[in-house]
Amino acid sequence: MIRSIKGVLIYTAVIVFASVVYFVYAYTQYPPIPERETFLSEIGEGFGEVGLWALLFIYARTLLKLLMGKGALAKRLLPDYSPHAATSMFQQLLGFLNRTHVYVGIATVAIILLHIALMGMPMDILFFPAVLALVVWQGLFGMFLTWRYSPKELKKFSYLVHAQFLTGIMIGIFAYFGHLLLDN
Ligand code: HEM
Repeated sequence: MIRSIKGVLIYTAVIVFASVVYFVYAYTQYPPIPERETFLSEIGEGFGEVGLWALLFIYARTLLKLLMGKGALAKRLLPDYSPHAATSMFQQLLGFLNRTHVYVGIATVAIILLHIALMGMPMDILFFPAVLALVVWQGLFGMFLTWRYSPKELKKFSYLVHAQFLTGIMIGIFAYFGHLLLDN
């Protein structure tokens, strides 16, 4: 498990490094993107904020799951930890988060798509189409995972590519550097 944490950290460092390189390139190549102050873009900003909180909420569930011993990570981080000792309040909270994930997930994808549509997307700066593709990716494979008629193999593949942090790390880092390029 420690090895997989190391793997995630190395992966994150590589994505940050590639993003910084591309950020410098885009910063010097493209003129600054002026902020539009229209009625729709003001609403769009609100969707952006809600989308960010929704993503944090989704990944908090995954962290909670790991910390509650639903993954091997908990045993490493908390050596004395016994999953049975976890208060039932946390169990209940996790149960609630698990039951609502599909709805929160669909709402998150919709909110982020609305944010992009209302703000307008500078397609030539690759951070933005990449975030769009990754959000659609999470939504699509989440749907295949939920859909009862998905063939077994597709379900297995969907779990592999949906239920992990790697896409989320890319979404967070690309969105952060993309927003740094916006003039405000
Ligand atoms: C941006 C949107 C989404 C993100 C970031 C996201 C992220 C995740 C993550 C990290 C997991 C693994 C959680 C864990 O094991 O604790 C997961 C599981 C899952 N997701 Fe999503 N998801 C999103 C949208 C969706 C959508 C739209 C659906 C269905 C329509 C969906 C259905 C599922 C299912 C069925 C699981 C596995 C069962 C579970 O752990 O509850 N997700 N998702």
